[in-house]
Amino acid sequence: MTIFEATCSAPVNIAVVKYWGKNPEKIALNLPTNSSLSVTLSQDQLHSKTTIRASADFTSDRLWLNGHEESIEKNKRLVTCLRETRALRASMEDKDAALPKISGLNIHVCSENNFPTAAGLASSASGYACLVYTLAQLFQLPLDASDLSIIARQGSGSACRSMFGGFVAWEMGSKDDGSDSKAVQIAPETHWPDLQAMICVVSDAKKGTSSTEGMQLTVKTSALLQHRIKDVVPKRMEEMIKAIQDKDFPTFADLTMKDSNQFHAVCLDTYPPIFYLNDISRAIIRIVTEYNKDGIKAAYTFDAGPNAVIYAPEKNMAEIYALLSHYFPGHQFDDSLGLLKNNAAPSALPQNFDTRISPVFEQGSVKQILHTKADDGPRVLETAKHGLLNPEGLPK
Ligand code: DP6
Repeated sequence: MTIFEATCSAPVNIAVVKYWGKNPEKIALNLPTNSSLSVTLSQDQLHSKTTIRASADFTSDRLWLNGHEESIEKNKRLVTCLRETRALRASMEDKDAALPKISGLNIHVCSENNFPTAAGLASSASGYACLVYTLAQLFQLPLDASDLSIIARQGSGSACRSMFGGFVAWEMGSKDDGSDSKAVQIAPETHWPDLQAMICVVSDAKKGTSSTEGMQLTVKTSALLQHRIKDVVPKRMEEMIKAIQDKDFPTFADLTMKDSNQFHAVCLDTYPPIFYLNDISRAIIRIVTEYNKDGIKAAYTFDAGPNAVIYAPEKNMAEIYALLSHYFPGHQFDDSLGLLKNNAAPSALPQNFDTRISPVFEQGSVKQILHTKADDGPRVLETAKHGLLNPEGLPK
């Protein structure tokens, strides 16, 4: 019997112009109130991996996420991605009698992240990008990455940008049916290989407001968001695209930090206010600001949680790591890019750095630091080697 199965992996992305706000009249289509732009980070450090099998032996659609079975029906966004891709496959099968009829078969979906979801990293972006990419492989859909991004967007907005590697814009679009609200690649990962990122996983016991709920409340209540949508983001998108094309790090960094600040300002302007940054996040802002006092050498950015991502050219990474190690002892470091191996004196703090700008935090305040870089989009993996389902169609 032929096996219909595909296994893929997909990356996370971290926005430098943030998506925050959904069109309240188009909630099911998940259309944003502004365009956004992100950098796709290497799957060698962070990725989601998904196997999907279609079989006449399966009696229902089933889903396993990070080892636990979850209900598909309860997950409306997943149902949407499934419905859209199945409908496309069904219309291909209608037109071509030679195609195997798999659109009507039940499927088993098994997906896992190689990083803890609880770390608050962008798991919905890589997760939905991976789901949609794997469905497209399974059903052999003749769609390009932008077409697929329209489907992934309906799973999670930020997921549409993980359909590409490198530097990716999500154009908000203007059509009522959302058919032009899609991701496009601004530049591939090979364009600016010098740009790297340091991800700081900050300890935080509190469960923050989810992005979905948070941004709906912001749209309802924040006057500042309207200013951001109309007067700030359109120009900032253009400036950011130019900075990336020119590999102009100071401009890229300036825009990135201002956009992160404005996103958190808009959260504070939401009523009741939403707080994502904590004392450690604010200390990281101070450290980067002091480090930049004689010229911009690094950029911080924060999503819907206290974790920081610091973008910087490769040559500054050892100094940045030395600063983070000074203020945040007791973290675990992912050195898969060989930073410590290649730098003889990683513990030297930069000259002229005024260490009094922040206290040294207690052990483990930053749990983990990952060094990574811009990299490619979703990958097709060999099922025999990487597949997550056993011969019975259950998680291995
Ligand atoms: C702060 O993509 O998680 O990370 O569309 O509701 O799933 P949903 O939201 P999500 O929001 C991400 C918001 C952000 C900024 C960004 O990635 O642009």
